[in-house]
Amino acid sequence: MNAKSTFEEDVATTSSLLNKAPLSFPTPAPITEHGGAKVIAIFNQKGGVGKTTSTINLGASLAELGRRVLLVDFDPQGGLSLGLGVNAHQLPLEQTVYYALMTPTADIDQIVLKSSVAGLDFLPANRDLGTA
Ligand SMILES: Nc1ncnc2c1ncn2[C@@H]1O[C@H](COP(=O)(O)OP(=O)(O)O)[C@@H](O)[C@H]1O
Ligand SMILES: [Mg+2]
Repeated sequence: MNAKSTFEEDVATTSSLLNKAPLSFPTPAPITEHGGAKVIAIFNQKGGVGKTTSTINLGASLAELGRRVLLVDFDPQGGLSLGLGVNAHQLPLEQTVYYALMTPTADIDQIVLKSSVAGLDFLPANRDLGTA
């Protein structure tokens, strides 16, 4: 069996697992200009339900479609940062979202990191956020 399935196969598998008719996901029109920023918050009090995974995948998908995306890690466990290849627990306080939040004079350009996906940047968090 081929481990890599197509998008259409994923939709068919999901619809059969859920016993629901397949949904149609039209490809959005190409972006011709950037408008104002939209904020999407993904939250759930329960741990381990897929918040971080969904955030990374949603962000990467939007970036692939041409959007400029800034993911903000707001979890002191730093899972989003780790998922993007950065162990934020090794970063100094001044290079984390905690500092961006608590220091009005913080230079955000010094804190935002680039991921390996073009157009997908992120603000890393580590355990220091727990004291905010
Ligand atoms: N759609 C999914 N199917 C199967 N496993 C998933 C899915 N989404 C996330 N996971 C797994 O579930 C675990 C928890 O996901 P995570 O995104 O870290 O949750 P949260 O951020 O809500 O704590 C991780 O091991 C992740 O790989
Ligand atoms: Mg998480």
